Amino acid sequence: MPSVFIKTYGCQMNERDSEAVAAQLVAKGYSLAPDERVADVVLLNTCSVRDLAEQKAIWKMGNLAGTARKQGRDQVLGFMGCMAQSRGKQLIESLPDVDLVLGTQKFHRAAEYLDALLSGQREKIVDTAEEAGSQAAIREHLLTGAADKKSVTAFVSIMQGCNQHCTFCIVPFTRGEERSRTIPDVVAECRELVARGVREITLLGQIVTSYGKRDYPAKDGKSAFVQLLEAVHEIEGLDRIRFTSPHPKGYGDDLVEAYGRLPKLVESAHLPLQSGSDRLLKLMHRGYTRERFVGLVEKLRHVQSGMGISTDIIVGFPGETEADFEDTLSLCRQVEFDLAYVFKYSPRKDTPAATMPDQLSEEVIEERHQRLLNLTNELAAKKYEALIGSTQQILVEGPSRRNPARYEGRTRSNKIVVFPGSERHRGHLMNLRIERTGSFTLYGDPAVVGMESEENAPSFTPHPNDSPAPAS
Ligand code: SAH
Ligand code: F3S
Repeated sequence: MPSVFIKTYGCQMNERDSEAVAAQLVAKGYSLAPDERVADVVLLNTCSVRDLAEQKAIWKMGNLAGTARKQGRDQVLGFMGCMAQSRGKQLIESLPDVDLVLGTQKFHRAAEYLDALLSGQREKIVDTAEEAGSQAAIREHLLTGAADKKSVTAFVSIMQGCNQHCTFCIVPFTRGEERSRTIPDVVAECRELVARGVREITLLGQIVTSYGKRDYPAKDGKSAFVQLLEAVHEIEGLDRIRFTSPHPKGYGDDLVEAYGRLPKLVESAHLPLQSGSDRLLKLMHRGYTRERFVGLVEKLRHVQSGMGISTDIIVGFPGETEADFEDTLSLCRQVEFDLAYVFKYSPRKDTPAATMPDQLSEEVIEERHQRLLNLTNELAAKKYEALIGSTQQILVEGPSRRNPARYEGRTRSNKIVVFPGSERHRGHLMNLRIERTGSFTLYGDPAVVGMESEENAPSFTPHPNDSPAPAS
């Protein structure tokens, strides 16, 4: 049976797409190679959001092709995802060893195309066409079966595409128009996952707050997205719901209020800010002002005081003045994000911003990037330190990625907590006392669990799916 290795660049949506393709191939009899060097098929699932991500994947493919040639190996090489979509057959023209280019609406055809290529088809395959209904085709999961390796968390794709057309962003071109799955379809997938041991689900899309707008009219003042959250919330055995990425302008009062009403919806929101300057927000076509953004953060913290808020910010958008940049700094000081992803502006093909006047020099962008990072890291560190001594509920996901001798989980506000745990803790909600912090990590101690909580809560919250409940 042929083996496949998939390397993923970019966001959680890409991670999810790779997982669905891997699961589809495994179901067709492929095995997953531990390493690209021994695989019969290597697929690069690409990102186009910034030039650097594209260059990395192109460089990687050149490297793979060179190695395969040198060793005289007949490896099948393919690009899939966003860059495959935006560059299409041009990728084969510049890298003639590439056999397959699979666009963002064609993931479900991976097995069919690879079978053809592996059975000797010489002709290369490029498929980047649009396909009605493809948003519902990303549904297979690769959950490991063994009880001790069970996946505790899972991603579920609820929609594809984005119609917002922020002037810097290539996503509307690579992912197409907004298309949503139906509520029953999403709920059925979530139910299956929960039946297989999943406790936390993250609903995914490029702009999830626009979910189902055209298909589900607002009901009792509730948007389609809130209706979906309510439906997923009903699933018994599911402990936590997250979602990403929302758009700040899509955060109506119905969604803000849902955080107070739906206990499984955790206190965490990713609110991409992009800039703190109203002038730039307008040029970016973001659809909100600084004042509205700050107002939204206040409302969310009012509903849930422990709300974790993360963001994305771009520095060096065309025409950004020192004053605009200082507006971003001051907004960060005002809001105090728990985590900020800071990006250097990268001009993207076909986007309006790429041809705007006053593109900034690399030096200016670099300098502002560093200044903003210094500030956001300093503010985030304070947020983490403020949790020392508090008791936090975590969902244990498995061994710590940094130190496999320890275990880790996330707080409801989406912060990683590392603690001296063991396999029996996997998949359980635990209350831990936070002892100290590291870089974007909290360290907890289960020995003093529950001491701080009102009712002296036990260290484990038994779960309806558990039989028997582990000894604590
Ligand atoms: N809503 C989407 C956004 C995708 S891009 C999602 O998260 O699914 C993720 C982040 O990359 C954006 O929020 C933005 O901060 C950054 N980004 C997008 N286009 C960019 C560009 N041309 N240059 C630099 N950063 C960019
Ligand atoms: Fe991109 Fe803006 Fe949509 S950042 S994904 S066009 S909301």
